[in-house]
Amino acid sequence: MKKILIDADTGIDDSIAILFALKRPDVRVMGVTTGFGNTTARQAAENSLRLIRLAGVPYEVPVAVGATEPLAGNWKGPDPHIHGPNGIGGVELPPSPQQPLEEPAWDFIARMAREHPGELTLVTLARMTNLAKALEREPQLPRLLKKVVFMGGTFRAPGNVSPVAEANIAGDPEAADRVFQAGFDLTMVGLDVTQKVRLTTAHVDILDKYAAPENRPIADYLKQALPFYFRFNRLQNNCLDHCPVHDPLAMLTAVDPSVVTVRTIPARVECGGTFCRGMVVADLREHPIEAPGVSICVDVDSRRALEELLTTFMA
Ligand code: BDR
Ligand code: CA
Repeated sequence: MKKILIDADTGIDDSIAILFALKRPDVRVMGVTTGFGNTTARQAAENSLRLIRLAGVPYEVPVAVGATEPLAGNWKGPDPHIHGPNGIGGVELPPSPQQPLEEPAWDFIARMAREHPGELTLVTLARMTNLAKALEREPQLPRLLKKVVFMGGTFRAPGNVSPVAEANIAGDPEAADRVFQAGFDLTMVGLDVTQKVRLTTAHVDILDKYAAPENRPIADYLKQALPFYFRFNRLQNNCLDHCPVHDPLAMLTAVDPSVVTVRTIPARVECGGTFCRGMVVADLREHPIEAPGVSICVDVDSRRALEELLTTFMA
């Protein structure tokens, strides 16, 4: 059984990743922490609680609210055109009776790591602010966590918020660079691979038709939420009805790393610059910069990734 902690800015693609983890029989979700990004940290926690209720798992999943802005301050708020007014495409899921913890996300991450040394994989689907703050509180975190798998960055593909930067890293480069330097067993699931795996309207139809009876509420939710994300991708990228599966692929990589090919390369995050702030700088030279190696996903078996993601919700 894989014990997973999830850190998310619970938007539409985060929600698929969370539901996928909750529904995998070989995964136990030990908690969800939230931060700013696709929506506010508080709304992301509300969305997460509702998704946990929707999945109907037979155990309680604690949710902790985290960062409201990047380490360097100044967040200009979410862009409602991407993930909708509430982060999940405007879909009104039934409320959960559960409340978020009083404990902030970073204390929760540090405490869980201490209570389960060497057992937890942390999957971050948002800015790394919560993780950077947890590291500040518990410097032993790289040793206490089994692995960190993060959705973010790009190695060779173009960025999605600047020519060279991806949103989760560009949203808090200082936090990401602290994480890169800390010595975690770190896997980067960036745009090089997430852009290659696309969910289409046909997949939504397949889910609608073949969802297991207990997953009917999930299929109904995705049928409403995904068209919102498709619309944004259509306007931004001039493509037909499909979207990249950023966060779900990171979650799948944490659960089944055999879907991706990785190269371990010393890397840091650019925290200055006019055009390059938030860029992941992976050094391929024979004598590279002094930095821990990051396992960077460079390729993915897209067909198998989609199959694994979708069949989890089927009978
Ligand atoms: C990342 O940014 C967010 O909008 C998505 O949820 C994903 O985590 C993609 O760049
Ligand atoms: Ca996300």
